[in-house]
Amino acid sequence: MKTKIIVTGGCGYIGSHTVIELITSQFDVVIFDDFSNSSKQTLERIFKITGIAPTFIEVDLKDYDATFKAFETHKDANGVIHFAAHKAVGESVNKPLMYYKNNLYSLINTLESQSTLGISNFIFSSSATVYGTPNTLPITEENDTQRPFSPYGNTKKIAEEILDDFTKSNTSFSAISLRYFNPIGAHDSGEIGELPNGIPNNLMPYITQTAAGVREKLMVYGNDYPTKDGTPIRDYIHVVDLAKAHVLAVKRLINHQQEKPLEYFNLGTGIGYSVLDVINTFENATGCKLNYEITERRDGDVPQLYAATNLAKEKLGWFAVKNLDDMISSSWTWEQNLRNEN
Ligand code: WQD
Repeated sequence: MKTKIIVTGGCGYIGSHTVIELITSQFDVVIFDDFSNSSKQTLERIFKITGIAPTFIEVDLKDYDATFKAFETHKDANGVIHFAAHKAVGESVNKPLMYYKNNLYSLINTLESQSTLGISNFIFSSSATVYGTPNTLPITEENDTQRPFSPYGNTKKIAEEILDDFTKSNTSFSAISLRYFNPIGAHDSGEIGELPNGIPNNLMPYITQTAAGVREKLMVYGNDYPTKDGTPIRDYIHVVDLAKAHVLAVKRLINHQQEKPLEYFNLGTGIGYSVLDVINTFENATGCKLNYEITERRDGDVPQLYAATNLAKEKLGWFAVKNLDDMISSSWTWEQNLRNEN
């Protein structure tokens, strides 16, 4: 009998890569998705890669009745990985209520449904953005969290606070919050990857779309930061490495290995690269000359973010194995495949 895991937002970028790793690890996967920022076609792509078409329910997790009904259909699940959320930083600044409503209603309805039905394991998709501007580097899980600049980031911080209160009041419930640094890259098959809606917020998809001629020029937001080349430093992590960490986190909860009702783990490589490092690595890896221009800083950007990775290694037995070249090459292959399809 396979262990069943519900993956909310399982057709999204990180969700779909995690579904593939779960299936490969012999889990029975059920996807909940409203397809507001993903495509049903991803289900076919998952089938093409794994030979298995995951069960899925199209559901708006902001609607409690619909959410409970979906969970009741799969009340035999052993755990939930909750990816479902809006995640565009810039959009969240312009539409804060949409972000608070979507990201927090979805979380609360999921937790309430699980609690009522006795599904007691929960993995949360969080972000290094909860650390705000770190006062020490590398960032450990003990670093103070600060109010993130964007409403998107704040929904992640508030979500962790909700989880902290909920797990304290519900001792049969266990949760792990995974704090992603900067996820980039795509599955080695070239069949799935990031599908940004409209103009990408994030660096990597903007680079590949510029190289593919979809965008005219990459704006590099500032080169007057206190870093080696003046551009901000981030801890980029391959989405497949990230996905594998979720499988290990699920196993930790299912095997009752957790040491606290709510545990936090940084998911990064521990290596920081500047924006110019990424651009230069892209040009060397692909042979494409990138059209970019240095412009003003972007509001909310911090100079440096990179992870201390020892806790995830010690407790999850996880560490990132793919390097920046792997991340960039897989992103470029995916972009080219996307263009060939359209
Ligand atoms: C990286 C660097 C930019 C675009 C955010 C969220 C985080 C996570 C990942 C959602 C920065 C620079 C970017 C561009 C640029 N969540 N940049 N030109 O801001 O570190 O993290 O996305 O998925 O929670 O906070 O990632 O990729 O937007 O930016 O110069 O067109 O690239 O200034 O230094 P960020 P990013």
